[in-house]
Amino acid sequence: MSQNATRTRHIHVRPNERGFGAEITGLDLSKPLSADILAEVKQAWADHAVIWFPGQPLSHDELEAFTLQIGPFGHDPFIAPMEDRPHILELRREPDEKARNFGAGWHSDWSFQEEPPAATILHSKVVPPVGGDTLYADCTRAYDALSDKMKGMLDGLVAIHSAALPYGTEGIFAQEKEARTMKIIVSKEAEKTCPHPLVRTHPVTGRKALYASPVYTVGIEGMTHEESAALLGFLYNHMTKDEFVYRHCWQPEMLTMWDNRCTLHYADGGYDGHLRVMHRTTVAGDVPH
Ligand code: SIN
Repeated sequence: MSQNATRTRHIHVRPNERGFGAEITGLDLSKPLSADILAEVKQAWADHAVIWFPGQPLSHDELEAFTLQIGPFGHDPFIAPMEDRPHILELRREPDEKARNFGAGWHSDWSFQEEPPAATILHSKVVPPVGGDTLYADCTRAYDALSDKMKGMLDGLVAIHSAALPYGTEGIFAQEKEARTMKIIVSKEAEKTCPHPLVRTHPVTGRKALYASPVYTVGIEGMTHEESAALLGFLYNHMTKDEFVYRHCWQPEMLTMWDNRCTLHYADGGYDGHLRVMHRTTVAGDVPH
């Protein structure tokens, strides 16, 4: 364990040396967590935004039970869940699959919903020998690093979110030519829009974070397309600078939980010819403020 490792009362939290995120060891997620341990896990999650627990083989029941200790399930649209498991999505890509890997674009999960999920929980079942990392961007530090003038300009702006680009009837998945194992449900429903503050305040930490992504943000209220594209383009470049990004390398049976309220993520490819299987749940969130 590195010098940065801290022992809370029950769990070991090893903060990532490069920025944000932390590894947590010293507990078994297949069993219900005591109130004290759960509080420590939630504190570590608030402190680090992305937390991962290596060496946690979990059945579907155990994954669901762990999720429910964090909060009620979120609603996952546009992707067919696992059979008999309405709250678990299987992110599966076969070795011979040519379609682009799922999640390959910076986004915060389901940000087009009125109450987007607070957490996403991803549990690795089969990890390819190369590639398949997940990148996370720290939208809190990215906000903090802006000038006061820019913060003043952004605070109060409203961004418009929609699922049209990936899931709309003329979106990326609708136009996909290559076969895909995951069952994506393209729909008119995806073309609805939902406004959220461009800078949101985290309900637990009270810290402000940028809240927009190239996958789901379609514009800024009151601005022309050109104006929003220029401003959002600047923000996306800023948020995904190396200094705000953590690259997560998976091991099999690792559980990672991230905070959609203050991070973006991007599923990296680079594993053609290899199987990758992950199981994903979401935890309900509230209306962004
Ligand atoms: C996602 O939830 O966007 C996919 C993340 C991953 O598969 O690494």
